[in-house]
Amino acid sequence: MPDDRKASLLSLERVCKVYRTGTFGAGELCAVSDVTFSIAPNEVVALVGESGSGKTTIGRMILRLEAVTSGSIRFDHTAVSALRRSELKDYYRSVQGVFQDPFSSFNPIFKADRVFKILRQEYFAESADAPWQARVDDALEAVGLNPADVLHKYPHQLSGGQLQRLLIARALMMDIRLLVADEIISMLDASTRIDVLNLLGGLKERGLGILFITHDLSLGSYIADTSIILRRGRIVEMGPTDDVFGDPRHPYTKALLAAVPRLHGGEELPPPGAGDGARAGEVDAVAPNSPTLEEVTPGHFVAEHAP
Ligand SMILES: Nc1ncnc2c1ncn2[C@@H]1O[C@H](COP(=O)(O)OP(=O)(O)OP(=O)(O)O)[C@@H](O)[C@H]1O
Ligand SMILES: [Mg+2]
Repeated sequence: MPDDRKASLLSLERVCKVYRTGTFGAGELCAVSDVTFSIAPNEVVALVGESGSGKTTIGRMILRLEAVTSGSIRFDHTAVSALRRSELKDYYRSVQGVFQDPFSSFNPIFKADRVFKILRQEYFAESADAPWQARVDDALEAVGLNPADVLHKYPHQLSGGQLQRLLIARALMMDIRLLVADEIISMLDASTRIDVLNLLGGLKERGLGILFITHDLSLGSYIADTSIILRRGRIVEMGPTDDVFGDPRHPYTKALLAAVPRLHGGEELPPPGAGDGARAGEVDAVAPNSPTLEEVTPGHFVAEHAP
């Protein structure tokens, strides 16, 4: 079992999420099954998987926007599910999320600086004007934005990359130690993507732990120390990125990697949901019930699969 051999900031242990579905909640959908991993300070962990594999659900459970069905999530060894309301506020000082669509985080009728006003009301009500403004400016400059260029504009007057950076800046103002970044660069153009990736690299250097959620393997491999390959809610392979990408052992990881050159030959990504079905024939080798993870080389774990 992958464990706490490294000093962990966040750890998930055997986390499961079952959603109730259907009219009377009679159906069940197992979105996340038996997921165990941890994130250390100064570590970028990529959570990679196709659409519907449970990536966002894991991110939302870490941020306590969604409850775990079973298993536990610990931050600094404290169970996140047990946090009371007052403690939750402190938790969000340490752990923040940034999501795929930056536009949805802004109200179009207010200027961009409103997100900082709200943050001030909620967390920094005691801060005087001048130090507060200095703090906002510092955070914006840390993400490569010129405060005068962005604060007094409406969301539609800013690019997706600028909005995404504003959200990262807001997260940084909380002295966070863990950032959950869910597909934050999927919507950005190629050059902005590299900027935001480099920004995340800079945050890591400052000691943050980062969960970098992506369906794009090449983005994951670009910045992650550790990569986790998720399929249908289960981890099929995980370990140091160089090992997982350089020496993939699970047929599913191999199939995903084999598809990468094709994706980068100018073709579009497959539509959401297309992946699992399309590749089911070649990779349908995941054991149905709690496949145990075998450690093939130090720190490199692979789920049981048919030879
Ligand atoms: N609130 C919900 N109620 C019921 N089912 C849900 C809910 N949220 C997600 N699901 C289902 O759980 C599964 C995992 O969804 P999730 O959003 O975590 O996938 P994902 O890996 O983030 O996909 P994508 O790459 O498309 O963002 C999917 O089958 C999804 O339909
Ligand atoms: Mg998602």
